[in-house]
Amino acid sequence: MHHITLDNETDFDGWRKAARALALNDVKPSDVSWRVADDAPELFEPTAPPLEPPPGTFNVPAKFVELAEAAILHRNPERFALLYRLLWRLRQNHDLLDIATDPDVAEVAAMAKAVRRDEHKMHAFVRFREVGREQNSHFVAWFEPEHHIVELAAPFFARRFADMPWSILTPDVCAHWDGHAVSITPGVSKSEAPTTDRLEETWRRYYASIFNPARLKVTAMQNEMPKKYWRNLPEASLIKPLIESAERTASAMIANAAIEPHKSQKRLEPAKVQDMARNHDDDDLETLREEAAGCRACPLWKDATQTVFGEGPQTARIILVGEQPGDKEDLAGKPFVGPAGQMLDRALEEAGIDRSTVYVTNAVKHFKFVPRGKIRLHQKPNTPEIKACRQWYERELAAIKPDLVVAMGATAAQSVFGKITPINKNRGRLIDLDDGTRALVTVHPSYLLRLPDADAKAREYQRFVQDLKIAADVLRKSAHAA
Ligand code: URA
Repeated sequence: MHHITLDNETDFDGWRKAARALALNDVKPSDVSWRVADDAPELFEPTAPPLEPPPGTFNVPAKFVELAEAAILHRNPERFALLYRLLWRLRQNHDLLDIATDPDVAEVAAMAKAVRRDEHKMHAFVRFREVGREQNSHFVAWFEPEHHIVELAAPFFARRFADMPWSILTPDVCAHWDGHAVSITPGVSKSEAPTTDRLEETWRRYYASIFNPARLKVTAMQNEMPKKYWRNLPEASLIKPLIESAERTASAMIANAAIEPHKSQKRLEPAKVQDMARNHDDDDLETLREEAAGCRACPLWKDATQTVFGEGPQTARIILVGEQPGDKEDLAGKPFVGPAGQMLDRALEEAGIDRSTVYVTNAVKHFKFVPRGKIRLHQKPNTPEIKACRQWYERELAAIKPDLVVAMGATAAQSVFGKITPINKNRGRLIDLDDGTRALVTVHPSYLLRLPDADAKAREYQRFVQDLKIAADVLRKSAHAA
């Protein structure tokens, strides 16, 4: 039996070196046991001398290294053995990773996915609390990750909060940033983390302002912000009262509803029936959202807080596409909740479109910005970023199969048409797309916000509403036809 002791829970280099030596010496997975240095040693183990790799090499697919680097951070104590078994089998079958149903492949892929999801949750749910004031202030957060992801997630916080010294304390290890480098120290207990400060109230006010009772979906919300994170979030104390008050509002609306159903409810029924008949091989939006949370197809994920996926019912007949999430959307994890979103809400209402019945998304799903002091300045996404993100738009489109896609602005138009598409030349008319869907091009609501001249702003806003009325007309016709 070969007993391998790794330096720590995240010792990928140690695992790789040992696995290579074992494989080159033809040591079967069943003849190896793995543990971490600070685990209690088992008594009276028969040991074999440490192995040196004999001369020779072997190659594994790059995808295996990528998967193993993530999966090794999983808390499952069997992960080292499982990865060695997969490596051993890959030597016999180089294409093994393509067999998604193979139990070892599936388990490693699920572990890597869980780790990436945990990293994403850490990016989204770490809340720093200020300790000390002015020159001496230091920002400290308490977090309980599910897996061993602190070292993986720390560079994100170093980039994002480059100009403030911070520490993230966890029971496993702690990460610290002094403005120059990240350092890692042993874990601590929760009692060592501060609990309140003057930033708390700001977070609570921000959360209350972005909470939209009309779009409340408790299950989806709890999936995105699982309860176990609530206890460390300043805004958590607001969640229960906000949900209760949204439910009270909804019950009052139902109780007061006229005997005749509302127009929009009537319109929705055929779409629901159509949805039941749909091909369920298609992606489900919640699954897509989960997958997109770990997207690394372009570098924008590195500085953004989270992927901002589209939002709205799978039965929507219209998809509205914007450019990319802004500062507010990046923090909230929802599209069009900031100033451009408010402008869009107003215009939709004037055009006679109920936002809760349409699907709202962006061509690019991570916020691109440059830091300018305390502000994050929006940057237009470039063509490689738009192309890298298009897969998500295509899959949203395939999942929803709308009658109409509304491209708002040049970036959206480039994604929807798959090529640069001038706005003014194509604006305000229905254009057939190859897949039978129709598209409508219009301006982006941020363009209206930026117009300095009040008259031009009012005029352009009216044109925007007129464009959306074309979409409202399509919506009415598709409801009649269904
Ligand atoms: N601008 C966009 O294009 N999308 C958003 O979600 C917000 C602002």
